[in-house]
Amino acid sequence: MRTTVGIIGAGPAGLLLARQLHLAGIDCVVLENRDRAYIEARQRAGMLEAGTVEALRAVGAGSRLDAEGLEHHGIELRFDGTSHRVDFRALTGRTVTVYAQTEIVKDLVALQLAEGPPLFFGAEAVAVEGADGGSPRVRYRHEGREATLECDWIVGCDGFHGVARSAVPAALRTTYERDYPFSWLGILADVAPSSDELVYARGATGFALLSMRSPTVSRLYLQVPNGTDPADWPDERIWDELDARFAAGSDPDWTLRRGPVTSKTLTPMRSFVCEPMRHGRLLLAGDAAHIVPPTGAKGLNLAVFDVRLLGRAFEALHRTGSTALLDAYPRAALRRVWQATRFSYDMTTMLHVPPGESDFDRRIELTRLERIATSRDAAAELAAQYTGLPLE
Ligand code: APR
Ligand code: PHB
Repeated sequence: MRTTVGIIGAGPAGLLLARQLHLAGIDCVVLENRDRAYIEARQRAGMLEAGTVEALRAVGAGSRLDAEGLEHHGIELRFDGTSHRVDFRALTGRTVTVYAQTEIVKDLVALQLAEGPPLFFGAEAVAVEGADGGSPRVRYRHEGREATLECDWIVGCDGFHGVARSAVPAALRTTYERDYPFSWLGILADVAPSSDELVYARGATGFALLSMRSPTVSRLYLQVPNGTDPADWPDERIWDELDARFAAGSDPDWTLRRGPVTSKTLTPMRSFVCEPMRHGRLLLAGDAAHIVPPTGAKGLNLAVFDVRLLGRAFEALHRTGSTALLDAYPRAALRRVWQATRFSYDMTTMLHVPPGESDFDRRIELTRLERIATSRDAAAELAAQYTGLPLE
């Protein structure tokens, strides 16, 4: 099989890129090792920057998002007996939208299966070869057979555990990493969200987040120790702990609504950046090149930003024959990646309570939160990063 752009991975990055290329008249093929049901059920964050919403609308994937997405104008921070709202619209003129990543994946898969380009499920890329020569190819396994996809370009959108990143020779690759000493226990519950906006809380015993999926489904997270077994957290224990953490700073009339828990997952927290994001004719995008801890919900938005740049770069190459935008891609993408990495790190360290936190460290983190609560400039910086920096 031969194509212009071989895309490994059908997460949001691979699917959106395929859609952009298809609309620009550039042929491509997507290889995805899982099946459709699996990728459409995977639970991930669901907070979209305005630029992410625009990118989805621009490829015709905006109708359900516009009908069902929930526009949010700010978030609430709770800490040390106080509650503070950060008003994104007043501070930046921008808003964000709650729409689950699984729904984006469903919308993009439906478009691609209806209109093309080819999307193969159960197709596991095993190696990327020839990236630095004239004939890059992906070796993959599909229906029990080994096959080769010959490409002009290859884009690794195969997530953190994919194979594309390892095709950048180790001697040319630098990785930057930080693991955090806590994880998130996330639940979905069939109950109306207890607040119209997201609530980020730093309780005495750790972080809690109230988010949502729809007017009838709540998404909640709780900081827990690494290695926690969700089975050790019966529903009552989760609700009691959430109650205690959100109580930090709530008004006395606020109550956390409880309902049937339909899913429990554990998410480790990691920062990871791989440089460069290009080796010859191989480009990396999304989680294949970078991971952020989910505090601040930048992962999906960064993946979408990468492929917006790549979509424009391939379109320019197709129209004019110039690789200038492809050449500029690694630098432009990494600039934003590092901004989001720093923002996610700040949000994470400020709002979590690491094991053995010293009194000094606690006071420092509370002081950072208090600064956001009392300074328009500090709040505006949080709002600018949360709602998304401009494209350039
Ligand atoms: N061959 C083919 N497909 C693969 C391979 C492989 N060897 N390895 C992984 N994949 C597939 C995975 O099954 C997955 O569907 O690549 C896809 C990668 O998708 P994501 O992990 O969703 O990554 P990405 O598209 O970059 O989206 C980033 O995901 O982790 C979240 O917070 C992150 O929301 C962000 C988003
Ligand atoms: C989510 O809704 O899953 C979510 C929202 C905001 C975050 C992280 C996760 O910061």
